[in-house]
Amino acid sequence: MIKAGFIGTGNMANAIIKGLKNSKLKFNITGFDKDKRVLNEVKRKYKIVIKKSNLEVVDSSDVIILAVKPQNVNEVLLEIKDRLTDEHLIISIAAGITINHIIKQTGKNIPIVRVMPNTPALIGEGVCAYCKNKFVTKKYENLAKKILDSFCKIVIYLSENKINTVTALSGSGPAYFFYFLEAMLDASSLLKIKKNIALLLLSQTMVGAGKMILEGKGTPEELRKKVTSKGGTTEKAINFFEKNRARDIIKNAILSAKKRADELNKGK
Ligand SMILES: NC(=O)c1ccc[n+]([C@@H]2O[C@H](COP(=O)([O-])OP(=O)(O)OC[C@H]3O[C@@H](n4cnc5c(N)ncnc54)[C@H](OP(=O)(O)O)[C@@H]3O)[C@@H](O)[C@H]2O)c1
Repeated sequence: MIKAGFIGTGNMANAIIKGLKNSKLKFNITGFDKDKRVLNEVKRKYKIVIKKSNLEVVDSSDVIILAVKPQNVNEVLLEIKDRLTDEHLIISIAAGITINHIIKQTGKNIPIVRVMPNTPALIGEGVCAYCKNKFVTKKYENLAKKILDSFCKIVIYLSENKINTVTALSGSGPAYFFYFLEAMLDASSLLKIKKNIALLLLSQTMVGAGKMILEGKGTPEELRKKVTSKGGTTEKAINFFEKNRARDIIKNAILSAKKRADELNKGK
């Protein structure tokens, strides 16, 4: 039985707990959250054991999942550092917080896996990238991978200097697609089609387009060109995007997200 303890039991913790509950491995899951409502909800949903403090979580865990917002990471590390040992594996999902930052704040040479997941993990459709420090043995890495596999469809190992980029791409990515969907819904409402119908058409279009890429049907550019007949409707829309520099806007938005991820580690 693997003892997994959650510090912070909000959105992403819920996705991970759900994965662990469905995993072939057996987990004994505990958790603590400052927000009692959130904590009781996760207990109700997944029957995890709730603890009275983060320290109790640390004392009863082999794997500690750090799932608070980046802004709350330092207060947590300050609170738990004296109870951490090299027998603990830390899995941190906090955006922008580096492994080195955790080592510095705790003053401990402990095994740490840093992960950037995304919210589709809530329905078993997540992706994540992870990195690790030198204290993560093969045994710990295998355990971390099993945990990540339990809630993500795609798990990729990357060097740490790429993780903030992953944050700006797939970590924040679902929100970009939702934003795009919102804008398309604005258009559909002007065109007087019922919102629930437009939502069905558009969301399956998003899933279908993503699947065509995943199934190797072509590059995004090739597939776009196949839909874009000369003088047709798609061409009209794409030309409008291009003329209004939508590509630059999207690119610059992602660069600004990456910059923000870099700042988070500096406590900004
Ligand atoms: N959501 C995403 O799409 C996403 C994607 C990838 C990675 N992440 C990362 O995942 C982490 C969690 O994000 P989330 O969206 O799950 O946040 P969330 O829903 O706000 O959950 C975090 C929980 O931690 C609690 N908390 C704050 N300080 C605490 C402390 N000292 N001890 C115990 N609990 C504490 C919060 O309570 P209060 O609300 O009372 O502060 C909140 O209930 C973040 O670091 C984020 O960067 C999120």
